[in-house]
Amino acid sequence: MPPGTSIVTASPPAPEPFAVRILFLTHSFNSLAQRLYTELAALGHEVSVELDINDAATVSAVELFRPHLVVAPFLKRAIPEAVWRRLVCLVVHPGIRGDRGPSALDWAILEGEARWGVTVLQAERELDAGPVWAWREFPMRAATKGSLYRFEVTEAAAAAVLEAVERFQAGDFRPQRVDPQDAAIRGRPREPMKQSDRRIDWARDDTATVLRKIRSADGFPGVVDQLAGLGVRLYDAHPDVSLGGEPGALLARRDGAVCRATTDGAVWIGRLRLAQGRSLKLPATTVLGAAAAALPESASCDELPVDGLTFNEIRYEERDRVGYLHFDFHNGAMGTDQCRRLLAALRQARARPTRVIVLLGGRDFWSNGLHLNLIEAAASPADASWENINAMDDLAEAVVGTSEQLTISALGGNAGAGGAFLALAADFVYARDGVILNPHYKNMGNLYGSELWTYLLPRRVGPTGVAAVMAHRLPLAAREALAMGVVDEVGPGDPAAFRDFVASRAAGLAAGTDFDARLAAKRLRREADEAVKPLAAHRAEELERMKLNFYGFDPSYHVARYRFVHRTPHAWTPLYLATHRRLGWQVPQGREVPSPACPQRSSARRD
Ligand code: COA
Repeated sequence: MPPGTSIVTASPPAPEPFAVRILFLTHSFNSLAQRLYTELAALGHEVSVELDINDAATVSAVELFRPHLVVAPFLKRAIPEAVWRRLVCLVVHPGIRGDRGPSALDWAILEGEARWGVTVLQAERELDAGPVWAWREFPMRAATKGSLYRFEVTEAAAAAVLEAVERFQAGDFRPQRVDPQDAAIRGRPREPMKQSDRRIDWARDDTATVLRKIRSADGFPGVVDQLAGLGVRLYDAHPDVSLGGEPGALLARRDGAVCRATTDGAVWIGRLRLAQGRSLKLPATTVLGAAAAALPESASCDELPVDGLTFNEIRYEERDRVGYLHFDFHNGAMGTDQCRRLLAALRQARARPTRVIVLLGGRDFWSNGLHLNLIEAAASPADASWENINAMDDLAEAVVGTSEQLTISALGGNAGAGGAFLALAADFVYARDGVILNPHYKNMGNLYGSELWTYLLPRRVGPTGVAAVMAHRLPLAAREALAMGVVDEVGPGDPAAFRDFVASRAAGLAAGTDFDARLAAKRLRREADEAVKPLAAHRAEELERMKLNFYGFDPSYHVARYRFVHRTPHAWTPLYLATHRRLGWQVPQGREVPSPACPQRSSARRD
C-alpha cells in the first residue's frame, strides 16, 4: 500500500435501480390509474393493465406477465390470496393511515375532516390492514368526492406510489404496520356508508350540511331524496347566496339545474338520476320534466366573478385586456345546448376590446366532448349525436376563426376525446402538470371524430405524429403531450399556481410589443391554410365519417356509448391495456419474482 493512503471500508454498492414489471389490477382504468400508469411508464417501468374481472383472470394475468409487483389503484374486490401470497401487491387506499373501509372519502367529507390522505399498503387477508409502504396527507377542500379524488387524492397517490415503487426497487425497505396506539394515527376502520347516514332533512339542514351530504356521494352513489314527488339521486350541488324560501321548496331553474331552499339559503342541484331502475344521470330539469318547467327561470349571474356563490356553468371575466371564459360543465360533457350557450359567450367575448381570450374550461375537466348521457336519453341517439357534434364543430370553428384576439386553451383539468381536440383550436395550449389527455376517439366504438381534428392535429404534430396520437388509445400525460407537440407548455401542478401561470402568459401576450405582429401572422397563416384546404372541407369530410358512425351499419359507437353511460362491467381487458395478453407476448424467462413475505430480500438486479 503506498504511504499516506488509508484503508476505506467500502459499503456494499447500492443495488442499481431496475425497471420494475408492474401489473396494474384495477376495477377500471380511471383517471387515477391513468395518472399512475403514465408516471410509472415515464420512469421506464414496464406496466401492463388487467381489469379486475374475476379471480381466475387475475391469476392468469400474473402467470402471463410475471410481474415483480402488483399495483391496485382502484379496486372494489379483494385481491385473490394466491396472488398476494406470491407477490407484493400495493393497494392505493384513499384514506389516512389506520383508516379502513370502502367509504373513506365519503366519511371524510361528511364529517368535515380538515386533513385527509392516501395510504399505499400491502394487500393481505384483511382489507386495508396490511403494512404501509408510503402515505401522504393533504388539506381538504370544499368539493365533491369526485373532484377531491381527481385532484388531491390523485396527487397524493402519485407521490406515494412512486415512493413505494422506489422503496420496492431499493430492496431494503420494511413496510410498517399501523400502530393504533400511535398518537399520530387518526384513522380507524369504518363501515360502508349507507343512504341513511347522509339523508337530507330539508326542514333542519342548512346549506353547508346539505352540500356536505350531497358532495360525499358525488359522483357515486348520489344521495337518495324526493323531489317533486319523484325518488331521485342528487348530484352537482352548488350554494346560492341570493335565493331562499320555505326550507325544501323548489325555487327556480337555470340551465338545467333546479334551486331548492335550505334553512339558511338555497342550493342548486345540477344533475339527478331516478333512484329506481337503470337510470341515467341527467340535467335536473330533464328528469323533473313539467315540475321543473313550471319553476321561474333565474337568469345566470354572469357578473359574479368567483365560483361558489351560485350555479353558473359559463362565466366571463376580464383583466389586463384578457378575457377569461370559464365553462364548468358537469363531468366535462358538452351537450348541444351547452355548446350553443358557450358559442354565444365566445362571440360576446370576441366582441370585447381585449387582446387575448383564455378558454379555461372547468375546474375538474376542461372538456370530455359530446354529452353521451344526453345522447343516450334522446328519442333518437343518432340524431342527438349529429346535432351535438355539429354544435361542437361550430364552437371549434369559432375558436379557430377568432381573428381579433389571440386565443389560449388553459387545461387545468383533464380533457378527453372531442374535448381534447377542441382545446387544440386555440393558438396556444397550456396544460397543468399532472393533467391527463385522451386525444383519441377510438375507445368510443371507433368513432372517427370531428372538431376539425384533421386540421388541428397535423398543424401541431405533423403527419407522422397524427398516426401516433390517433392510434394510441392510451392516456397522455401533460409532459408527454408537450414532447409530442400536442400542447405548447406545461404549467405548475398546483391549480392556483397554474391559474397564475396562465394569467401571466396571457397578460404577457396582451402587453407584448409584438402583439400586432403575432396577430397578423396568425391571420396570414389562417388564410394560407384556408387556401390549401378550407375548414369547411375538413369539417364536411369528418362529418361524412361521423355520419357512418351514427347512422351506418356498424353499431359499435352505439354499443360503446351504452356500455359507458350504464357503467357496464368489463368482461375482458382490452388489448391496448393488457400487454401481457397480446399475441407474441413472451413470458419473461429467468427473472426473479420477489416474495411478499420478504420483499427486502432480493436486492439483486432482476433484469
Ligand atoms: N358524456 C357524459 N358523461 C361523461 C363524458 C361524456 N362525454 N365523459 C365523462 N363522463 C362522465 C362519466 O360517466 C363519469 O360519470 P360519473 O359522474 O357518473 O362517475 C364522470 O364523467 C367521470 O368520468 P370517468 O370516466 O370516471 O373519468 P376519467 O377521468 O376516469 O376518464 C375519460 C376520462 C375522458 C377517459 C372518460 O370519461 C371517457 O372516455 N369519456 C368519454 C369521452 C368520449 O368518448 N366522448 C365522446 C366523443 S367526443
